[in-house]
Amino acid sequence: MKHNFNTDYDINNLNDKVSLYGWVSKIRNLGGLIFIDLRDRSGIIQLVVNPDNSCYKIADEIKNEYVIYVEGKISKRENVNSKLKTGEIEVIVDNIKILNTSKELPFEISDNTTALEDTRLKYRYLDLRRKSLTDNLKIRHKITMITRNYLDSLGFLEVETPVLCKSTPEGARDYLVPSRINKGAFYALPQSPQIFKQLLMISGIEKYFQIAKCFRDEDLRADRQPEFTQIDMEMSFVNENDVMNVAEGLIAKLFKDIKGIELKRPFLKMRYDDAIEYYGSDKPDLRFEMLIQNITDIFKDNSSNLFQNTISNNGIINCIVVKNAQSKYSRKDLDKLTDFVKQYKASGLAYLKINDEITGSIIKLITNKELECLKERLNLENEDLVLIVMGDKKIVKNALGALRLNVAKQLKLIDDNLYKVLWVIDFPSFEWSEEENRYISCHHPFTMPKDSDIDKLINDKANCYSKAYDCVINGYEAGGGSIRIHNQDVQKKMFEALNLTESDVEDKFGFFIEALKYGTPPHGGLAFGLDRLTMLLTNTDNIRDVIAFPKTASASDLMSNCPNLVNQKQLDDLKIKIDSN
Ligand code: AMO
Repeated sequence: MKHNFNTDYDINNLNDKVSLYGWVSKIRNLGGLIFIDLRDRSGIIQLVVNPDNSCYKIADEIKNEYVIYVEGKISKRENVNSKLKTGEIEVIVDNIKILNTSKELPFEISDNTTALEDTRLKYRYLDLRRKSLTDNLKIRHKITMITRNYLDSLGFLEVETPVLCKSTPEGARDYLVPSRINKGAFYALPQSPQIFKQLLMISGIEKYFQIAKCFRDEDLRADRQPEFTQIDMEMSFVNENDVMNVAEGLIAKLFKDIKGIELKRPFLKMRYDDAIEYYGSDKPDLRFEMLIQNITDIFKDNSSNLFQNTISNNGIINCIVVKNAQSKYSRKDLDKLTDFVKQYKASGLAYLKINDEITGSIIKLITNKELECLKERLNLENEDLVLIVMGDKKIVKNALGALRLNVAKQLKLIDDNLYKVLWVIDFPSFEWSEEENRYISCHHPFTMPKDSDIDKLINDKANCYSKAYDCVINGYEAGGGSIRIHNQDVQKKMFEALNLTESDVEDKFGFFIEALKYGTPPHGGLAFGLDRLTMLLTNTDNIRDVIAFPKTASASDLMSNCPNLVNQKQLDDLKIKIDSN
């Protein structure tokens, strides 16, 4: 077995005899001397083969990505390479063995590769030879090690829960697995271990965690994969602050140990309603200001149809002020921003360019008095650009929230080395589903309402808030959780509020409701997305960069060509017929 990595050696090992294994990253024949960059997981070390050495002939046959074994002596390098950990040394080779050859590669193994992502995903095992991806896997490993040690030190027990199970109530679509033995019946892959971890509390485990695989058949985005990993935890006899404290301790430790960054604790807490009001998002990015401001009242007496229609339909008029930006946005750029907000269902985008003379798409509709009010309310200065959206509250907030992020990215207002962590708290218990034309759970039906809101469960759902919290880092939802309902009366009311009949409840989670009757302790928990935490700690915005074998945006694996058709015998065993329409 190979005992040492390349980068275990440095100037302190001068004249040591070493044996090394690895891949040939680069080979150069310079006037007789052969130089080889030997790569292993840890990095690169330079090998030198002299023409008078008996192994020179073998060295001369070597090509990129061959796997070789060498013996030699560590020597001081004439031209130090400060970019390499081993840059002060080289190995003068005595003996060399080719352990395997390599076909010519489909792309160069380099962090500056220009190969298309699809090609790299097809040959993922080669892509993983690139330093940046290997480094990401190392950081991911470090995160799980730190997590295990931290939670173990607090008395948490790691327990595995099933992967073949009954559908869980997380709200996404399930991946289903047909049962051969029970024909026509299906397992669901867990969207999270939610129900199992609550059952473990009923079992008396008290402090549980798991680095758990989760599966959700949902539309994919840059921070979403169909299978992903959670750092999942649950604890008994706790309130929201206890859970947030444990979770904060973990996040602070990860940032300290991996990035050397001391996060300020306790983390900021922001009410959900405030996050929506000022950032248009339940995962606000606090690395820059540009808050959403409400200017509806300023236009209450405006006679133009545009404002009057909005106000009379209970709509709102909101804006963001982009400092020093009016000359950076041409008419064409503003048209593009208009198209952008339309993707979020906004009817349009109005703007004002602030200068000695104020111009803009709606300037003719605004009175001098209104303009003065705007200037004062928004602290407007020359060069400011005001971007205005009006209409239905939900649409306006959502569109301006997205626009705020888009403009900040365009103007490079976000410092990539800054980390802004916060808790979003006081989530509503319910959200209105247009699709289902009813209130549905914001989290899941086992989330405890605020003590003062239990009475609102039935008659005032819009104002019923829950003991749920999300941990948000730089605009990413890094984790989320809640205190759970352990009281059967409250649970009954919750099902009633969701219009679930007794038979719905029995069918969906009857076993769980039964379990709650046997001395359930008060409990709560949270789950972090391990992939998202790794993205944040490795400064990437592509979730595929932190997963060894990820899926594409259309949920397929280009390397193994999966999902794929299976043979007729397999389908017959499962009594499944494919409808080819
Ligand atoms: P939730 O659904 O909020 O909560 O998930 C917790 C965290 O998991 C991550 N996450 C994802 N990461 C990558 N790809 C996905 N498709 C994906 N979906 C979610 C996010 C998210 O914050 N059982 C509850 C937790 C609890 O209440 O204790 C749950 O799963 O970072």
